[in-house]
Amino acid sequence: MNVPPAIRWSEGRLTLLDQRRLPAVVDYLDIPDIPSAVDAIGSLAVRGAPAIGIAAAYALAVAARDAGDSAGIAGVLRDGGDALIAARPTAVNLRWAVERLRIRGAAEPDPAALAAEAEAIHREDAAQCRAIGEHGRRLITPNANVLTHCNAGALAVSELGTATAPLYLNHDAGIPFHVYVDETRPLLQGARLTAWELDRAGIDVTLVCDSVPASLMAAGRIDLVIVGTDRVTRNGDVVNKVGTLNLAVLARHFGVPFYVACPASTYDPDTATGNDVTIEQRSDDEVRRGESAAVPAYNPAFDVTPARLVTGIITDRGIAEAPLESALEDLFRES
Ligand code: MRU
Repeated sequence: MNVPPAIRWSEGRLTLLDQRRLPAVVDYLDIPDIPSAVDAIGSLAVRGAPAIGIAAAYALAVAARDAGDSAGIAGVLRDGGDALIAARPTAVNLRWAVERLRIRGAAEPDPAALAAEAEAIHREDAAQCRAIGEHGRRLITPNANVLTHCNAGALAVSELGTATAPLYLNHDAGIPFHVYVDETRPLLQGARLTAWELDRAGIDVTLVCDSVPASLMAAGRIDLVIVGTDRVTRNGDVVNKVGTLNLAVLARHFGVPFYVACPASTYDPDTATGNDVTIEQRSDDEVRRGESAAVPAYNPAFDVTPARLVTGIITDRGIAEAPLESALEDLFRES
Protein backbone atom coordinates (compact mmCIF):
# COMPACT_ATOMS: atom_id res chain seq x y z
CA MET A 1 0.00 0.00 0.00
CA ASN A 2 2.94 2.30 0.62
CA VAL A 3 1.03 4.49 3.11
CA PRO A 4 2.87 5.48 6.33
CA PRO A 5 1.06 4.28 9.48
CA ALA A 6 -1.02 6.91 11.29
CA ILE A 7 0.00 5.49 14.67
CA ARG A 8 3.34 4.06 15.74
CA TRP A 9 3.86 2.24 19.02
CA SER A 10 7.29 0.93 19.68
CA GLU A 11 8.86 -0.03 23.01
CA GLY A 12 6.33 2.01 24.92
CA ARG A 13 6.75 5.13 22.81
CA LEU A 14 3.76 6.63 20.98
CA THR A 15 4.27 8.71 17.83
CA LEU A 16 1.55 9.97 15.50
CA LEU A 17 1.79 10.88 11.84
CA ASP A 18 1.10 14.62 11.68
CA GLN A 19 -1.77 14.58 9.17
CA ARG A 20 -2.08 18.37 9.22
CA ARG A 21 1.12 18.52 7.17
CA LEU A 22 0.25 15.88 4.58
CA PRO A 23 0.84 15.43 1.75
CA ALA A 24 3.76 17.88 1.67
CA VAL A 25 5.54 16.65 4.78
CA VAL A 26 5.62 13.15 6.29
CA ASP A 27 6.58 13.64 9.91
CA TYR A 28 5.73 12.10 13.29
CA LEU A 29 4.81 13.81 16.57
CA ASP A 30 5.99 12.47 19.90
CA ILE A 31 3.10 11.92 22.35
CA PRO A 32 4.60 11.67 25.85
CA ASP A 33 1.50 12.60 27.87
CA ILE A 34 -2.26 13.28 27.89
CA PRO A 35 -2.11 17.01 27.00
CA SER A 36 -0.09 16.31 23.85
CA ALA A 37 -2.57 13.57 22.88
CA VAL A 38 -5.54 15.89 23.48
CA ASP A 39 -3.89 18.54 21.33
CA ALA A 40 -3.07 16.05 18.53
CA ILE A 41 -6.66 14.77 18.48
CA GLY A 42 -8.31 18.21 18.73
CA SER A 43 -6.13 19.76 16.04
CA LEU A 44 -6.56 16.74 13.71
CA ALA A 45 -2.89 15.75 13.67
CA VAL A 46 -4.47 12.34 14.17
CA ARG A 47 -8.02 11.99 12.87
CA GLY A 48 -10.56 9.48 11.67
CA ALA A 49 -12.81 7.70 14.16
CA PRO A 50 -10.84 4.46 14.71
CA ALA A 51 -7.44 6.22 14.75
CA ILE A 52 -8.40 8.70 17.47
CA GLY A 53 -9.66 5.82 19.62
CA ILE A 54 -6.42 3.86 19.18
CA ALA A 55 -4.30 6.97 19.84
CA ALA A 56 -6.27 7.76 23.01
CA ALA A 57 -5.83 4.20 24.28
CA TYR A 58 -2.06 4.33 23.83
CA ALA A 59 -1.91 7.81 25.39
CA LEU A 60 -3.59 6.46 28.53
CA ALA A 61 -1.10 3.60 28.64
CA VAL A 62 1.80 6.07 28.35
CA ALA A 63 0.42 8.35 31.05
CA ALA A 64 -0.29 5.39 33.37
CA ARG A 65 3.40 4.54 33.31
CA ASP A 66 4.21 7.91 34.84
CA ALA A 67 1.35 7.80 37.32
CA GLY A 68 3.02 5.89 40.15
CA ASP A 69 0.69 3.73 42.19
CA SER A 70 -2.76 2.38 41.45
CA ALA A 71 -4.42 5.55 42.78
CA GLY A 72 -2.38 7.54 40.26
CA ILE A 73 -3.38 5.18 37.46
CA ALA A 74 -7.03 5.48 38.44
CA GLY A 75 -6.63 9.29 38.29
CA VAL A 76 -5.13 9.10 34.79
CA LEU A 77 -7.95 6.87 33.58
CA ARG A 78 -10.58 9.16 35.10
CA ASP A 79 -9.27 12.67 34.36
CA GLY A 80 -7.06 11.88 31.38
CA GLY A 81 -9.85 9.80 29.91
CA ASP A 82 -12.34 12.65 30.32
CA ALA A 83 -9.94 15.11 28.66
CA LEU A 84 -9.42 12.75 25.70
CA ILE A 85 -13.16 12.13 25.26
CA ALA A 86 -13.79 15.89 25.28
CA ALA A 87 -11.19 16.51 22.55
CA ARG A 88 -13.69 15.46 19.86
CA PRO A 89 -17.30 14.73 20.79
CA THR A 90 -18.74 13.01 17.72
CA ALA A 91 -16.84 9.78 16.95
CA VAL A 92 -17.96 7.09 19.38
CA ASN A 93 -14.62 5.29 19.05
CA LEU A 94 -12.94 7.76 21.37
CA ARG A 95 -15.28 7.10 24.29
CA TRP A 96 -15.37 3.39 23.48
CA ALA A 97 -11.56 3.07 23.61
CA VAL A 98 -11.28 5.08 26.84
CA GLU A 99 -13.98 2.92 28.45
CA ARG A 100 -12.13 -0.24 27.46
CA LEU A 101 -8.97 1.04 29.13
CA ARG A 102 -10.96 2.01 32.23
CA ILE A 103 -12.47 -1.45 32.54
CA ARG A 104 -9.06 -3.12 32.09
CA GLY A 105 -7.44 -0.64 34.50
CA ALA A 106 -10.06 -1.28 37.18
CA ALA A 107 -9.33 -5.02 36.98
CA GLU A 108 -5.55 -4.68 36.57
CA PRO A 109 -4.18 -1.25 37.62
CA ASP A 110 -0.90 -1.93 35.87
CA PRO A 111 0.68 0.05 32.98
CA ALA A 112 1.65 -3.17 31.19
CA ALA A 113 -1.96 -4.38 31.21
CA LEU A 114 -3.14 -1.03 29.82
CA ALA A 115 -0.52 -1.15 27.07
CA ALA A 116 -1.68 -4.68 26.22
CA GLU A 117 -5.29 -3.46 26.01
CA ALA A 118 -4.31 -0.61 23.67
CA GLU A 119 -2.37 -3.05 21.50
CA ALA A 120 -5.42 -5.34 21.40
CA ILE A 121 -7.62 -2.44 20.22
CA HIS A 122 -5.05 -1.65 17.52
CA ARG A 123 -4.85 -5.30 16.36
CA GLU A 124 -8.64 -5.71 16.37
CA ASP A 125 -8.99 -2.57 14.26
CA ALA A 126 -6.70 -3.99 11.58
CA ALA A 127 -8.70 -7.23 11.55
CA GLN A 128 -12.02 -5.36 11.36
CA CYS A 129 -10.82 -3.32 8.39
CA ARG A 130 -9.72 -6.45 6.55
CA ALA A 131 -13.08 -8.09 7.25
CA ILE A 132 -14.92 -5.00 5.95
CA GLY A 133 -12.78 -5.25 2.82
CA GLU A 134 -13.66 -8.91 2.32
CA HIS A 135 -17.40 -8.28 2.79
CA GLY A 136 -17.43 -5.16 0.61
CA ARG A 137 -15.34 -6.42 -2.29
CA ARG A 138 -18.23 -7.81 -4.29
CA LEU A 139 -19.76 -4.32 -4.50
CA ILE A 140 -16.83 -3.05 -6.59
CA THR A 141 -17.49 -4.69 -9.93
CA PRO A 142 -14.88 -4.56 -12.73
CA ASN A 143 -14.52 -1.05 -14.21
CA ALA A 144 -16.83 0.49 -11.58
CA ASN A 145 -16.63 4.20 -10.82
CA VAL A 146 -16.66 4.70 -7.06
CA LEU A 147 -17.09 7.99 -5.19
CA THR A 148 -15.78 8.52 -1.67
CA HIS A 149 -15.75 11.47 0.73
CA CYS A 150 -13.31 12.69 3.39
CA ASN A 151 -10.74 10.11 4.44
CA ALA A 152 -11.87 6.74 5.71
CA GLY A 153 -8.63 5.25 4.47
CA ALA A 154 -5.50 3.77 5.94
CA LEU A 155 -4.64 7.13 7.50
CA ALA A 156 -7.85 7.05 9.55
CA VAL A 157 -7.35 3.57 11.02
CA SER A 158 -4.60 1.04 11.60
CA GLU A 159 -4.35 -0.22 8.02
CA LEU A 160 -6.48 -0.69 4.85
CA GLY A 161 -9.07 1.86 6.01
CA THR A 162 -12.78 1.15 6.24
CA ALA A 163 -14.36 2.65 3.10
CA THR A 164 -11.11 2.02 1.23
CA ALA A 165 -10.58 -1.59 2.37
CA PRO A 166 -12.68 -3.12 -0.46
CA LEU A 167 -10.78 -0.89 -2.89
CA TYR A 168 -7.35 -1.97 -1.66
CA LEU A 169 -8.26 -5.66 -1.70
CA ASN A 170 -9.72 -5.52 -5.22
CA HIS A 171 -6.78 -3.49 -6.46
CA ASP A 172 -4.41 -6.14 -5.07
CA ALA A 173 -6.47 -8.78 -6.86
CA GLY A 174 -5.97 -6.95 -10.18
CA ILE A 175 -9.63 -5.87 -10.58
CA PRO A 176 -9.78 -2.55 -12.49
CA PHE A 177 -11.90 0.32 -11.13
CA HIS A 178 -11.74 4.07 -10.76
CA VAL A 179 -12.27 6.29 -7.72
CA TYR A 180 -13.53 9.87 -7.57
CA VAL A 181 -12.52 11.67 -4.37
CA ASP A 182 -14.14 14.97 -3.43
CA GLU A 183 -12.01 17.63 -1.77
CA THR A 184 -13.96 17.65 1.52
CA ARG A 185 -13.85 21.26 2.54
CA PRO A 186 -12.85 22.96 4.70
CA LEU A 187 -9.92 20.78 5.80
CA LEU A 188 -9.49 18.90 2.54
CA GLN A 189 -9.20 15.37 3.89
CA GLY A 190 -10.24 14.08 0.45
CA ALA A 191 -7.75 16.16 -1.50
CA ARG A 192 -4.84 15.96 0.92
CA LEU A 193 -5.24 12.48 2.36
CA THR A 194 -7.47 10.11 0.39
CA ALA A 195 -6.27 11.16 -3.06
CA TRP A 196 -2.69 10.92 -1.79
CA GLU A 197 -2.98 7.49 -0.21
CA LEU A 198 -4.93 5.92 -3.10
CA ASP A 199 -2.45 7.33 -5.60
CA ARG A 200 0.49 5.99 -3.59
CA ALA A 201 -1.18 2.59 -3.68
CA GLY A 202 -1.41 2.78 -7.48
CA ILE A 203 -5.21 3.13 -7.59
CA ASP A 204 -6.72 5.12 -10.47
CA VAL A 205 -8.06 8.25 -8.72
CA THR A 206 -9.53 11.60 -9.80
CA LEU A 207 -9.98 14.57 -7.47
CA VAL A 208 -13.13 16.70 -7.81
CA CYS A 209 -14.55 19.76 -6.03
CA ASP A 210 -17.26 19.07 -3.45
CA SER A 211 -19.83 20.53 -5.83
CA VAL A 212 -19.08 18.13 -8.71
CA PRO A 213 -20.68 14.79 -7.65
CA ALA A 214 -24.19 15.95 -8.68
CA SER A 215 -23.19 16.41 -12.30
CA LEU A 216 -21.13 13.21 -12.27
CA MET A 217 -24.14 11.25 -11.03
CA ALA A 218 -26.45 13.00 -13.51
CA ALA A 219 -24.12 11.86 -16.28
CA GLY A 220 -24.21 8.26 -15.03
CA ARG A 221 -20.53 8.38 -14.12
CA ILE A 222 -20.82 7.10 -10.54
CA ASP A 223 -21.80 3.46 -9.91
CA LEU A 224 -21.41 3.39 -6.16
CA VAL A 225 -20.70 5.67 -3.19
CA ILE A 226 -18.73 4.32 -0.21
CA VAL A 227 -18.01 6.50 2.82
CA GLY A 228 -16.81 5.88 6.36
CA THR A 229 -18.56 6.92 9.54
CA ASP A 230 -17.86 8.37 12.98
CA ARG A 231 -20.90 6.74 14.50
CA VAL A 232 -23.81 4.58 13.41
CA THR A 233 -26.68 4.86 15.86
CA ARG A 234 -29.13 2.12 16.85
CA ASN A 235 -31.61 3.00 14.11
CA GLY A 236 -28.92 2.97 11.39
CA ASP A 237 -28.44 6.73 11.06
CA VAL A 238 -24.93 7.57 9.89
CA VAL A 239 -22.93 10.42 11.41
CA ASN A 240 -19.98 11.26 9.18
CA LYS A 241 -17.97 14.14 7.74
CA VAL A 242 -20.14 17.09 6.77
CA GLY A 243 -21.21 16.71 3.15
CA THR A 244 -22.01 13.01 3.49
CA LEU A 245 -25.72 13.88 3.69
CA ASN A 246 -25.46 15.84 0.42
CA LEU A 247 -24.02 12.77 -1.31
CA ALA A 248 -26.68 10.47 0.15
CA VAL A 249 -29.49 12.75 -1.08
CA LEU A 250 -27.92 12.93 -4.52
CA ALA A 251 -27.36 9.19 -4.64
CA ARG A 252 -31.02 8.54 -3.82
CA HIS A 253 -32.15 11.05 -6.46
CA PHE A 254 -29.98 9.53 -9.17
CA GLY A 255 -30.45 5.88 -8.14
CA VAL A 256 -26.83 5.31 -7.12
CA PRO A 257 -26.19 2.76 -4.31
CA PHE A 258 -24.94 4.46 -1.14
CA TYR A 259 -22.84 2.31 1.23
CA VAL A 260 -21.21 3.07 4.57
CA ALA A 261 -18.26 1.14 6.01
CA CYS A 262 -18.55 0.69 9.78
CA PRO A 263 -16.35 -1.41 12.09
CA ALA A 264 -17.82 -2.78 15.32
CA SER A 265 -16.05 -0.01 17.25
CA THR A 266 -18.14 2.65 15.46
CA TYR A 267 -21.58 1.12 16.04
CA ASP A 268 -23.33 2.80 18.97
CA PRO A 269 -26.47 0.88 19.97
CA ASP A 270 -26.76 3.01 23.13
CA THR A 271 -27.69 6.09 21.10
CA ALA A 272 -31.13 5.88 19.51
CA THR A 273 -30.78 8.18 16.49
CA GLY A 274 -28.35 10.51 14.78
CA ASN A 275 -30.22 13.47 16.22
CA ASP A 276 -29.03 12.41 19.69
CA VAL A 277 -25.34 12.78 18.72
CA THR A 278 -23.32 15.90 19.54
CA ILE A 279 -22.00 17.37 16.31
CA GLU A 280 -18.57 18.95 16.71
CA GLN A 281 -18.48 22.63 15.78
CA ARG A 282 -15.09 23.85 14.62
CA SER A 283 -13.50 27.25 14.23
CA ASP A 284 -14.81 29.89 11.80
CA ASP A 285 -11.27 30.33 10.52
CA GLU A 286 -11.20 26.86 8.98
CA VAL A 287 -13.96 28.04 6.63
CA ARG A 288 -12.82 31.63 6.02
CA ARG A 289 -9.20 30.70 5.22
CA GLY A 290 -8.04 34.31 4.90
CA GLU A 291 -9.71 34.97 1.53
CA SER A 292 -13.36 35.28 2.51
CA ALA A 293 -15.29 38.29 3.71
CA ALA A 294 -14.83 38.88 7.43
CA VAL A 295 -18.23 37.47 8.38
CA PRO A 296 -19.05 34.74 10.88
CA ALA A 297 -18.85 31.19 9.54
CA TYR A 298 -20.84 28.11 10.49
CA ASN A 299 -18.59 25.07 10.59
CA PRO A 300 -20.14 21.78 11.74
CA ALA A 301 -17.60 19.00 11.24
CA PHE A 302 -20.19 16.25 10.71
CA ASP A 303 -23.76 15.69 9.53
CA VAL A 304 -26.38 13.00 9.98
CA THR A 305 -27.54 10.85 7.08
CA PRO A 306 -30.87 9.20 7.92
CA ALA A 307 -30.93 5.42 7.70
CA ARG A 308 -33.55 5.52 4.93
CA LEU A 309 -30.98 7.03 2.53
CA VAL A 310 -28.43 4.27 3.17
CA THR A 311 -28.39 1.24 0.85
CA GLY A 312 -26.23 -0.81 3.18
CA ILE A 313 -23.70 -0.72 6.00
CA ILE A 314 -20.59 -2.80 5.38
CA THR A 315 -19.47 -4.07 8.77
CA ASP A 316 -16.77 -6.50 9.77
CA ARG A 317 -19.56 -9.06 10.37
CA GLY A 318 -21.27 -8.68 6.99
CA ILE A 319 -23.41 -6.15 5.13
CA ALA A 320 -26.50 -4.78 6.90
CA GLU A 321 -29.36 -3.81 4.61
CA ALA A 322 -32.78 -2.29 5.32
CA PRO A 323 -34.30 -2.46 7.82
CA LEU A 324 -30.96 -1.35 9.24
CA GLU A 325 -31.87 -1.30 12.91
CA SER A 326 -32.66 -5.01 13.14
CA ALA A 327 -29.96 -5.99 10.61
CA LEU A 328 -27.29 -4.21 12.69
CA GLU A 329 -28.62 -5.68 15.90
CA ASP A 330 -28.42 -9.19 14.43
CA LEU A 331 -24.86 -8.69 13.12
CA PHE A 332 -23.52 -7.17 16.34
CA ARG A 333 -25.58 -9.19 18.81
CA GLU A 334 -22.59 -11.03 20.24
CA SER A 335 -20.30 -8.06 20.83
O1 MRU B 1 -12.72 15.18 10.96
P1 MRU B 1 -12.13 13.88 10.55
O2 MRU B 1 -11.08 13.98 9.50
O3 MRU B 1 -11.67 13.06 11.74
O4 MRU B 1 -13.35 13.08 9.90
C1 MRU B 1 -13.17 11.74 9.51
C2 MRU B 1 -14.38 11.13 8.92
O5 MRU B 1 -15.41 11.74 8.81
C3 MRU B 1 -14.27 9.69 8.51
O6 MRU B 1 -15.13 9.41 7.45
C4 MRU B 1 -14.66 8.79 9.68
O7 MRU B 1 -13.98 9.16 10.85
C5 MRU B 1 -14.40 7.37 9.41
S1 MRU B 1 -12.69 6.95 9.40
C6 MRU B 1 -12.57 5.30 9.08
